[in-house]
Amino acid sequence: MPTCILLAPAKINFHLEILGLRSDGFHELAMVMQTVAVADRVTLKLRADRQITITCNRPAVPLDRTNLAHRAVELMAQRFPQAATGVDIDLEKHIPMAAGLAGGSGNGAAVLVGLNQLWQTGATVTELQDLAAQLGSDLPFSISGGTALATGRGEILDPLPTLHQGAVVLGKYRSLEVSTPWAYRTYREQFGSSYPERSNAQQTHAPELIQAIQHRAPAAIGRALYNDLEKVVLPTHRQVAALKAAFSSTNPLGVLMSGSGPTVFAWVENIAQAEEIKAQVGQLLPDPDLELLAAPLCDRGVQIIA
Ligand code: C5P
Repeated sequence: MPTCILLAPAKINFHLEILGLRSDGFHELAMVMQTVAVADRVTLKLRADRQITITCNRPAVPLDRTNLAHRAVELMAQRFPQAATGVDIDLEKHIPMAAGLAGGSGNGAAVLVGLNQLWQTGATVTELQDLAAQLGSDLPFSISGGTALATGRGEILDPLPTLHQGAVVLGKYRSLEVSTPWAYRTYREQFGSSYPERSNAQQTHAPELIQAIQHRAPAAIGRALYNDLEKVVLPTHRQVAALKAAFSSTNPLGVLMSGSGPTVFAWVENIAQAEEIKAQVGQLLPDPDLELLAAPLCDRGVQIIA
């Protein structure tokens, strides 16, 4: 049966700013997103019947229709009923889960891109991103990847210059998960009263960071890293705050929590420095529950490899 293999890279946030609460219950955001070279491998194999199955190398991953990969097949079948078939999906996960790295979103995005090829539906990237936005706020970015400013719910994307230099060390406690709805709800409860004066559609978002990206200046990028959700996640999860402090003690260009966490990343000049900081933090926090990954940046989103 026709098969397609895709890579779906992780994303980090260089910037996550909460501007206000929207009428649809989501938050108005300004984010700068970046894909990094840690990727899940997604294999799609068409079936002669209409069944959807999922297999995965990690037992914690749900294999039913709560999985975004499953919902992505249903959405494509709804949009292109003539082309729809069943599909076996295999998820080989390398991205830490429930981590603020858009791993699940990337899997859903890969299914949209892969089925577009296998079903020969001919949807453009923009059409796929419109479908992707129906499944989750991070999925449109997962499709295009690279470096981008994301506004609205996170689905309105403006590409930024590609960064050719720079690398990250990702740190995540395997047993620690942070619920994204919890993080946004808690932020709203604690800081919601300051929304009105901050939400201004005309404002320039993250001007210093964007200038640093335009100049491809890694040190200036490091100084401009910002994430509003740190204000609720770090005080609640002391382990994450301690991990951030451990990263900072190694003097990288910057340290930030990604998305709603709990992954913290150190931003450095190159992969050699990333490997060095990974080793240092591994010695400072010798805990088998702590997963550390060093990776260069990645200049694209979901990619078909076979
Ligand atoms: O869109 P996604 O499914 O990734 O969002 C997960 C949850 O994160 C939402 O249900 C919502 O609670 C919160 N969220 C939000 N505003 C956004 C994006 C996400 O409040 N712009």
